[in-house]
Amino acid sequence: MPVHLPPISRREFVKRVVLAGLGASLAPTVWAARRGETTWALMADTHIAADPLQIARGVNMAQHLETASREILGLAGLPAGAFILGDCALHSGEVEDYRTLVKLLEPLRSAGLPVHLALGNHDQRDHFRSVFKPGGIFAKAKLTQHVAVLRTGPVNWFVLDSLERTLQTPGLLGGEQLAWLAEMLDAHRKKPAIVVMHHNPNSANVTTGLKDTEQLLAILRPRRHVKAWVFGHTHVWRVETDSSGLHLVNLPPVAYVFRQGMPSGWVHARVSEEGMRLELRCIDRTHPAQGQTVELPWRTA
Ligand SMILES: [Fe+2]
Repeated sequence: MPVHLPPISRREFVKRVVLAGLGASLAPTVWAARRGETTWALMADTHIAADPLQIARGVNMAQHLETASREILGLAGLPAGAFILGDCALHSGEVEDYRTLVKLLEPLRSAGLPVHLALGNHDQRDHFRSVFKPGGIFAKAKLTQHVAVLRTGPVNWFVLDSLERTLQTPGLLGGEQLAWLAEMLDAHRKKPAIVVMHHNPNSANVTTGLKDTEQLLAILRPRRHVKAWVFGHTHVWRVETDSSGLHLVNLPPVAYVFRQGMPSGWVHARVSEEGMRLELRCIDRTHPAQGQTVELPWRTA
């Protein structure tokens, strides 16, 4: 079941698309699809609390999201959409956390931006659904997780759900979701694919990320049209490229960092058929990493 918040002014249009039953296991085609380059606001780990005044680790999370939203809306060209890649809620995914998040996202949606949401280990699926149901898009899908394919101009985005259990740090996609992904990737070979979710890849030294990392990489690496895996979870901004040429993009948290001096913020992504250019936008504009850019050419098909 995909979870997207449509632009507020287009809600009725989107509802009609869903009711028409277009793509039982797919998200409705993305709005604002254009040929050529598109830009996106990539966010993760908003950790929104029910009380917008709440502070955690010295940070007012609601204020951070408002700062990011204001900056996104102040861009010369409005992005085609925004992503929040999990840990939408502060700690245990309470219903009131999501109610506050909905309010905080109103400025983006009112400006015409669809917001695409993924779930993290600090989210709770049933609570999330209970809040987003009225205004969101819920299409019938075989999977119980929130998955989606967003077909856009230059690339297709594959939104995965790595939440295994609320408040359990590592994540899991599971066999059914992996099989769904393989099937969907094979059905969308003509354009570059970007896979997004909350959890980061596990490795020999990292076991707090995605438990079925190896199974996922076995699907992504040989499918040369898959160009990048974008995630949050670690609260650390980092971009790497593996030996197969697959880009691994770890988004910074919108909310708080775990180590002093790390940047919190969001990433402005310019995406084309040739590659992706990322620009880090820090909540603290005086942070030394503010404006850092990374060019990520796509590996050859
Ligand atoms: Fe987080």
